[in-house]
Amino acid sequence: MQSQATYNYKVVRQFAIMTVVWGIVGMLVGVIAAAQLVWPELNVAEWLHFGRLRPLHTNAVIFAFGGCALFATSYYVVQRTNHTTLFAPWLASFTFWGWQLIIVLAAITLPLGFTSGKEYAELEWPIDILIAIVWVSYAIVFFGTVAKRNTSHIYVANWFYGAFILTVALLHIVNSAEVPVTLTKSYSAYAGVQDAMVQWWYGHNAVGFFLTAGFLGMMYYFVPKQAERPVYSYRLSVVHFWALIFTYMWAGPHHLHYTALPDWTQSVGMMFSLILMAPSWGGMINGIMTLSGAWHKLRTDPILKFLITSLSFYGMSTFEGPMMSVKTVNALSHYTDWTIGHVHSGALGWVAMVSIGSIYYLIPRMYGKTEMYSTKLITTHFWIATIGVVLYIASMWISGVMQGLMWRATNPDGTLTYSFVESVKASYPFWTIRFIGGVLFLSGMLLMFYNVLKTIAGEKAYNAPVLAPQAAHA
Ligand code: HEM
Ligand code: HEM
Repeated sequence: MQSQATYNYKVVRQFAIMTVVWGIVGMLVGVIAAAQLVWPELNVAEWLHFGRLRPLHTNAVIFAFGGCALFATSYYVVQRTNHTTLFAPWLASFTFWGWQLIIVLAAITLPLGFTSGKEYAELEWPIDILIAIVWVSYAIVFFGTVAKRNTSHIYVANWFYGAFILTVALLHIVNSAEVPVTLTKSYSAYAGVQDAMVQWWYGHNAVGFFLTAGFLGMMYYFVPKQAERPVYSYRLSVVHFWALIFTYMWAGPHHLHYTALPDWTQSVGMMFSLILMAPSWGGMINGIMTLSGAWHKLRTDPILKFLITSLSFYGMSTFEGPMMSVKTVNALSHYTDWTIGHVHSGALGWVAMVSIGSIYYLIPRMYGKTEMYSTKLITTHFWIATIGVVLYIASMWISGVMQGLMWRATNPDGTLTYSFVESVKASYPFWTIRFIGGVLFLSGMLLMFYNVLKTIAGEKAYNAPVLAPQAAHA
């Protein structure tokens, strides 16, 4: 008898587990970096210095933790919503091992000090080439799966994942154009202000597509599933998609206010950033309103709590971002901890929380279990994480505004009221609070790891669903 096809869950399982593992590693490095700011004596060795650990942290949390979450969920969603198995499973397997190799290479080269010096694109040229190869393979698997779908319609989550995959390929390849001088050193192909413009076109769209569009794909699948409600407005989701991807592309110059970049370009960046609030909030409202008629579930379901709270943080950070892009506001916020607070309300509040909720949804299903080992532990995780984020971002807001005000304060004779070091001294209490917030968030991840291991070890409740168009609901 011919065996029936099942969804390809192996690669989803692998990426889902590594999301938790890299989440712990990346956040641990973040906690160490936060501790180094409070206790500078922790900068014990050259390769453990804050300047080396900071890019290691950003690469680990964005590309290892966030990247694995995006791979895991997109491979799951594309199969379930298109009622088909993954195209080229061997290539999907290659993307898993290739991505892990890139992460390991980053973890070795960044502490050793090999860097191209471009933020969020620090990895040197041989690793850049590897990233391009793995990413193109990812695109082939994803779009190949969409192409062989057994449905007439392509569900909106796939549009967001698809835009994320295509745009990240474009951003990475254009921004990484560089001239190698040795195996471990290269120089950017662009010079001066053009280099800065290309870098922040990349940087901002890395936020827009890596840290946002892909996670919106997650939101459009996992929120309706966990709430057991249809998406609030499908029409709004389509408007949301086109408006968001069109607008993000133009906002990059808000990272270069008051620089050598032509002034009109900065103003264009500011205008598009302000406009960007509309599609961002459209998406946030669409996600939260999906709970219409099911609000009571929030009381008892911690996975839904993670998902809906992540949307609230998404709404907050996409209100704050446009405000910070206004030149006069940016004159105060730029270079201060306010930016760091904004980053983490997006990164911890939105990206990490939506990923955590989605992985909690996936794990039992990937291992044939009816639910996670302990719902109580998920609830505890939720509260520890929420308190952690709030401590982190509130302390950074206060220290950021304080730093900005101290740096611009002048005496009647025009001299500066405060020296720089006085602002550093005044920031210590807030850096300590941020450290505590980080420790809390990391502790929540450790609880998650334990809960995941216990779930996997538990009794098997059912087998992986068989692929039959009538039975396989999206
Ligand atoms: C336990 C959790 C975390 C802690 C304690 C932490 C800590 C830190 C610290 C200390 C910095 C350097 C700040 C500075 O230079 O003054 C930083 C930067 C950064 N972190 Fe985190 N972090 C955490 C989680 C995350 C996550 C989950 C993400 C992304 C998904 C993330 C993304 C970033 C980014 C993008 C920056 C650079 C910000 C900039 O250049 O403006 N972090 N983090
Ligand atoms: C409407 C949406 C958003 C707008 C208009 C926006 C705008 C801004 C602005 C103006 C800055 C400060 C630039 C500077 O002074 O150097 C900034 C920094 C940043 N934002 Fe946002 N933001 C938005 C949403 C988000 C979200 C959702 C995330 C994370 C998931 C995020 C991540 C970041 C990061 C990582 C930086 C620091 C970049 C760096 O200097 O290294 N942003 N954003």
